[in-house]
Amino acid sequence: MGAKIISGTEVARAIRAELKQEVAELQAKHGVTPGLVTILVGDDPASQSYVAAKNKTAKELGVYSEQITLPVDTSEAELLQLVEKCNRNAKINGILVQLPLPKHINEAKVLYAIDPNKDVDGFHPVNVGKMVLGQQCFLPCTPHGILELLKRSGINTTGAEVVIVGRSNIVGKPIANLMLQKREAGNATITLCHTRTRDLAAHTRRADIIIAAAGTPNMLSAEMVKDGVVVIDVGVNRIGTSASGKAILAGDVDFTAVKEKASWITPVPGGVGPMTITMLMKNTVWAAARAAGIS
Ligand code: GUN
Repeated sequence: MGAKIISGTEVARAIRAELKQEVAELQAKHGVTPGLVTILVGDDPASQSYVAAKNKTAKELGVYSEQITLPVDTSEAELLQLVEKCNRNAKINGILVQLPLPKHINEAKVLYAIDPNKDVDGFHPVNVGKMVLGQQCFLPCTPHGILELLKRSGINTTGAEVVIVGRSNIVGKPIANLMLQKREAGNATITLCHTRTRDLAAHTRRADIIIAAAGTPNMLSAEMVKDGVVVIDVGVNRIGTSASGKAILAGDVDFTAVKEKASWITPVPGGVGPMTITMLMKNTVWAAARAAGIS
């Protein structure tokens, strides 16, 4: 069997077209322009390219965006002050502090400082708590993007055995929570595997859907999956640099081998990645509408 490819690039394009329309309407009917600030501390090349992509997409959709880059030795107090300033800035509806932060800055303290109404990453404990309770809130962008990919590909998750590999706060824990809820792309039976799981392959082999978010290149091999499995690859592993200086990316899945057994699979790049940025834009547009009392 050859798997059908779930193109995040195409799904993201469709959602961005919807968002562009929404942004134009917000402007025309209500005089509202959604605004996003991205804050990057340091010069990590991967973070730089993510932040640049977020700002580029914002501009394409008509979202006002500010990109603030701070030196790596910025103090925690300085960063907290900047977050406070953005909290008070009415032009800014969404605040994104790119992670990871340098070691001398307490990440939790910074995320707590962001106004939950501007927390378009969905990382503030208020939003995490609401998400777990199934209440309306900003959903974290990568898990939200995965739900949209499953939904728009017509993949039935009800009663499905879903095995998630990786227990991060950004992907593993939230996607586990979301997919067990009574919601679209939910109602699944969840197994959350991690580095201390005793027999990973025993779990992945019985999965109807595998979400690979371990951060280990080619972690999931063909021997570890059953025929007809749906595979969502969240891995973005930089395994080298091309002659032209571009990063060479590999997912967490041995794509070439696993696609022969799977029914659906996401590629890397062009799978989950474009969806993460798109859901950030969706959250920002919603934040603006909410701030204006429209939604
Ligand atoms: N670093 C890796 N992924 C993310 C993300 O979704 N948001 C932020 N702020 N930082 C990240």
